[in-house]
Amino acid sequence: MNKDQAKIRLEELQIILNEHSHRYYVLDDPLISDVEYDKLFRELQDIEKEFPDLIHPNSPTKRVGGAVLEEFSTLEHSMPMLSLSNALNEDELKDFYQRLRKNTGRDEIELIGEPKLDGLGVELIYRKGEFEAGATRGDGYTGEDITENLKTIPQIPMKLRGKIFPDLLEVRGEVIISKINFEKLNKEREKMGEKLFANPRNAAAGSLRQLDSKVTAHRPLEIFIYAPGKIEGFEYNTHMDLLEQFKNWGFPVNPMNQVVKNEDEMIAYFREMETDRESMPYDIDGIVVKVNDIALQNQLGMRTRTPRWAIAGKFKARTEITQIESIVAQVGRTGVLTPVANLKPVQLGGVVVSRATLHNQDEIDRKDIRVGDWVVIERAGDVIPKVIKVLKERRPKNTVSYHLPETCPVCGAKVQRVEGGVALKCVHRDCPAQLKTGIEHFVSKRAMNIDGLGEKIIDQLVDAGLLTSVADLYALKFKDLAVLERFGEKSANNLIRSIKTSQKRPLSNVIYALGIPNVGEYLARVLSDHFESLDDLLASDQETLIAIDDIGEIVAESIISFSNDPDNRKMIKVLQEYGIDPHAGDRGEKPLQGKIFVFTGSLETLTRDDAKDLVRDLGAKASGSVSAKTDYLVSGESSGSKLDKARELGIKIMNEKEFILFIKEFDVEMPDNKEQMKLF
Ligand code: IVH
Repeated sequence: MNKDQAKIRLEELQIILNEHSHRYYVLDDPLISDVEYDKLFRELQDIEKEFPDLIHPNSPTKRVGGAVLEEFSTLEHSMPMLSLSNALNEDELKDFYQRLRKNTGRDEIELIGEPKLDGLGVELIYRKGEFEAGATRGDGYTGEDITENLKTIPQIPMKLRGKIFPDLLEVRGEVIISKINFEKLNKEREKMGEKLFANPRNAAAGSLRQLDSKVTAHRPLEIFIYAPGKIEGFEYNTHMDLLEQFKNWGFPVNPMNQVVKNEDEMIAYFREMETDRESMPYDIDGIVVKVNDIALQNQLGMRTRTPRWAIAGKFKARTEITQIESIVAQVGRTGVLTPVANLKPVQLGGVVVSRATLHNQDEIDRKDIRVGDWVVIERAGDVIPKVIKVLKERRPKNTVSYHLPETCPVCGAKVQRVEGGVALKCVHRDCPAQLKTGIEHFVSKRAMNIDGLGEKIIDQLVDAGLLTSVADLYALKFKDLAVLERFGEKSANNLIRSIKTSQKRPLSNVIYALGIPNVGEYLARVLSDHFESLDDLLASDQETLIAIDDIGEIVAESIISFSNDPDNRKMIKVLQEYGIDPHAGDRGEKPLQGKIFVFTGSLETLTRDDAKDLVRDLGAKASGSVSAKTDYLVSGESSGSKLDKARELGIKIMNEKEFILFIKEFDVEMPDNKEQMKLF
């Protein structure tokens, strides 16, 4: 075989193998036997071996995994991957439908009902019909580049089927592991003495985030495609048409997707899916309903993070009955003792549950929860199961009330009641439990993203006295790590590198990493939008903090008491000396970055939420009260004291029409609204 012949045969084989693979994995309708497939595959391998320069990057032989990565690079989504608002019951689904009617002025709106798959959202990018890259959802704006791992999922086409495809096609879908395959995978792991996955979704997520794609290739991942990203060079009128087209291009589309013509059909679909839930091959946690007509979708538009034309209808949490075997107190990052019940293991929605949180002593007293009790437990989504009811009728004899210990179960120091609160807290500064959980939080993905520092390693480093605060991480040397149990040279080098890279984390992640009580990921982002640097945040006062939307008194107090603590100040100073001192400017600036808007009075054509979303999209803040820091006051009908105060302070005041004109200057998409025309 000469090179030209090889080239022709290679192309032929690729087409044939792709086609058979599609029939087998997507359509579940194979035409040839496994033996025949393997023969063709081997022929391809042989030719590629002889002519390595002819190997196509998307060849079927490239689906088995390749080089091990050091870390994932990031991939920015060309259109943000939004999330969905939730309807928690049938009434909220009906409210959604009524909102659609009101906003469109139509009586009936056709929707598509889809099962809400409980896996991991991903994006796949195709250029000129060839698979180019794929990413996780990440924070919605940037995800991790998991291209090599996605290639190992046999359902994902490497080349789109058919003759016509867009220049650019981005599709979104959910990677899942079926219930059966999850059980099998866990059985294998048990045999190998490996840690078990808690549920199919964690198994899917863990498998997709493997740095070694050969490992991913051995995991039974599947995918359903359900949404578009950016598409160039293809038009469609309805979501259903798009789903049909997805199928033609070779993507797996959920066969349970269905047109629902009106409110009654939507509710019927919700009920049907909830009934079928247990018998489905994979986990679903609700339904998603989407407006079918694309023009109508565009008319309805988006909020900042969620579309107005779709909603997730969540199923009720599942419950089970089991017995409490013991109760233990766990010490968290802030020193608070949380009582946790160890349960007789029980299956709950496809997962074995053996622990449940009891929250705090008051909760235990209120429900009178005792060791030995039979209890109703509930698991809602990914949340840790909780005890919702004690079956007093089944209470065994001789049970006694439970009380949290008066001393910390880890360091033995006396615990204190948190002032005004229900929690008991270990306030011993050097309690290793707090230090360890604090470090775990600091290094976690969404915080400093330091890879390779698991619980066991942290335990060893703290016990060896090498880590007395998170700042000590940056003083770690190779030789410190080399002495650790089961820690090779390569892992040590990787860890040191990962620690170094973390010095450049953006402000929001660093704020989150600090572990300020009550400041989670979202509020960290809010704060990073508002303050220039860590110093700026530490210097803020109650008034400034409360003026920020979403920051209430409790959070403000918690930030201030964190900032006032000399140990925290010292820790931050050391971090800064190690170069961890991000500034807001490190992020891309938006046109209204840092500006503060206050809305007052009722607006005629925009809802307050829409108006706030508009300015937030441009980088500004929406605040609830007027202060010297306010840049613009948008004043609607009958606005009172805020308007007076703004006048007093000489703040720029706009009416609704002026505001809309001002905003339009920035080329933003306005919420579609006929009423707006009346203003002009
Ligand atoms: S559509 C703008 N459809 O649910 C709409 N999402 O909070 C984008 N999900 O992150 C999503 N099944 O990972 C859509 N049939 C379905 C879905 C689905 C599961 C996930 C998805 C998304 C989350 C929404």
